[in-house]
Amino acid sequence: MVDFNEVIARRGTHAMKWDMIAARSGIDADDAIPMWVADMDFRAPPGVTEALRTEIERGTHGYYADTGSWSEALCGWMERRHGVTFDPAWVSPTPGVVSGLGLILQAVSEPGDEVVLFPPVYHAFRRIIPGNDRRILDAPLNLVDGRYAMDLDALAGMLTPRTKVVFFCSPHNPGGTVWTADEIQQLSAFCIEHDLLLVSDEIHCDLVFDEATHVSTLNVAPAIADRLITTVAATKTFNLAGAHVGACVTSNPELKKRLDKRIAASGLGSYNGFGMIATEAAWRTGDDWLDSLMTYLAQNRDLFDQCIEAAAPGTWSMPLAATYLAWVDFSGTGLSPGLVEERVKSTARIFASPGSQFGPGGESWLRFNIATPRPILEEALDRLDDAFRDLRGS
Ligand SMILES: Cc1ncc(COP(=O)(O)O)c(C=O)c1O
Repeated sequence: MVDFNEVIARRGTHAMKWDMIAARSGIDADDAIPMWVADMDFRAPPGVTEALRTEIERGTHGYYADTGSWSEALCGWMERRHGVTFDPAWVSPTPGVVSGLGLILQAVSEPGDEVVLFPPVYHAFRRIIPGNDRRILDAPLNLVDGRYAMDLDALAGMLTPRTKVVFFCSPHNPGGTVWTADEIQQLSAFCIEHDLLLVSDEIHCDLVFDEATHVSTLNVAPAIADRLITTVAATKTFNLAGAHVGACVTSNPELKKRLDKRIAASGLGSYNGFGMIATEAAWRTGDDWLDSLMTYLAQNRDLFDQCIEAAAPGTWSMPLAATYLAWVDFSGTGLSPGLVEERVKSTARIFASPGSQFGPGGESWLRFNIATPRPILEEALDRLDDAFRDLRGS
């Protein structure tokens, strides 16, 4: 059984989360706590370690042969966990989801075309679009009854002939919104009506808490299948981000052919063997580990929300239905975003992701990664309590 309370020393191990704190945040304290980038401080499932150990002990690490077992493992997992039927023939592995998004843009759009985002949203979307010489079309989310909602009427008024693609994050990062079937069907109908390609990034689909169920776009909106690419990965779920393997999945053979052509043109049609072995093992053996993880993360989420809201009166932590990325609005504290960030960095020595990274609507927020052993989380919460002590009066 995995002990999620075990504190594993990651500093000095090339762990970006721990070893890039000073470079990325300016916090130079030796005891800084990283709550930014989305990886976890837990050991991967035992089946993954076992598969990697077998590979390491054999000692031969030549080119990886894609026999089809990886795509089968992915499809088996999606069927078993989410009731969604993917055919292995629809799957294109890529070196991570973000690189897949860039390849998709190259395959289906031209420089200068527009890509719709629903901010605040995962910051790498905001990098990969201009990085590929495409333009961001922001359709800001609204806060309705304590959760995010898309405003498709407003978006309709913003579209131009250059709008070609929609990046949809489902479940949503940040905020952990699990979109309803109704919301996804409306978005899909919108994409069909306006001739847009829908990219449904479902990398967080497994990290959904008990109260909610992930809704697969393909399942609830089959009419969009021909203009839909779903992106998924084992890396976020099983803490294998360094493996850098993801998948683009589409049932449209023409679309898949265009994407595969871009993948081949970049020399990416041959895969990192360690990443493939680790992620396949995760899908084949990780069920029980994931169930235990979600129980542990739910306790972390509840503890975090309760303590942060008590520590700094006026803060609001959006109730997470999915993801381990707590999304906290500090606007009600009366402090400016700069002052809040300064207290969190300097007094608490915690690196949280600034909300402004996520685009319009994120300015007064911070995102805290709570996927860490309870002793680290408790230390972080003590420090936050201290950093906002004066706001609580006596
Ligand atoms: C919505 C979303 N997509 C993609 C990624 C990263 O994917 P990868 O590491 O496979 O590029 C993340 C990481 O947090 C994410 O939140």
